[in-house]
Amino acid sequence: MAVVPYQKESGSSMEKAEAVQLMFDSIAHRYDLLNDLMTAGMHRRWKLLTVKEAVGSGTNGVLDIACGTGDLAFLFKKSGVEKVIGIDFSENMLKVALNRGSENKEENVLFSRADALELPFQDDLFEGVATGFSLRNVDGIGKMFSEVYRVLKPGGRFASLELTHMKSEVIDRLFRIYFNNIVPILGGFITGDRAAYDYLPDSIANVPDAEEVGLMMEQVGFNFIKVKKLGFGSVALVRGIK
Ligand SMILES: C[S@@+](CC[C@H](N)C(=O)[O-])C[C@H]1O[C@@H](n2cnc3c(N)ncnc32)[C@H](O)[C@@H]1O
Repeated sequence: MAVVPYQKESGSSMEKAEAVQLMFDSIAHRYDLLNDLMTAGMHRRWKLLTVKEAVGSGTNGVLDIACGTGDLAFLFKKSGVEKVIGIDFSENMLKVALNRGSENKEENVLFSRADALELPFQDDLFEGVATGFSLRNVDGIGKMFSEVYRVLKPGGRFASLELTHMKSEVIDRLFRIYFNNIVPILGGFITGDRAAYDYLPDSIANVPDAEEVGLMMEQVGFNFIKVKKLGFGSVALVRGIK
């Protein structure tokens, strides 16, 4: 399946969307390796838990929003979901996802280029939606949540995995040292794009707290909000049900 050309019309504002898209295009070839190194492989377990939260009983049509290289999409498939689609607006991230799909002969996992803030799907279509590490990057979390709510069937589940602020000041400071100093050097060395990894600490500073993410889900209509902290409190898995 080819990646279709992406035409920006409305949805994300051009400046932030373009900058984020170009950044992920430039680091796509090393994104998976960096994720493993930065989290000591822990992101794999967090993603498994995210997929479990998004899959109710008997889910057969699910969406991975801002899928990047497709981790959540492939985990959905592995968990027994029949039809999986991943969308992202970075062409190079999608190319990595497509290569992984063809290497593993995953024919029922589709990838398409689209804006998370303007999903090209009809209302009430999916039984589950998940998104991983996208809240810091989209230009309007509320807009994305409204879109997720729209495309989910009643009773459908939405799970979001994202970095969050830690309650303990000491641990928070240690994580800040790690993200502000070590990650940009490591990221720059491995991907050749230091600016992309300088962006990480800035984006974390702007991410809403886990509880706030839950409230934002409630504001667009989700119920039964559940918040789970992972990675020593550095990561939040927030789930809502339509
Ligand atoms: C940190 S990566 C996460 C990738 C993957 N979900 C994961 O957990 O590994 C963030 C992704 O969000 C995508 N993204 C950001 N804003 C987007 C938007 N408005 N529409 C579609 N994709 C977007 C980027 O292209 C990038 O692939």
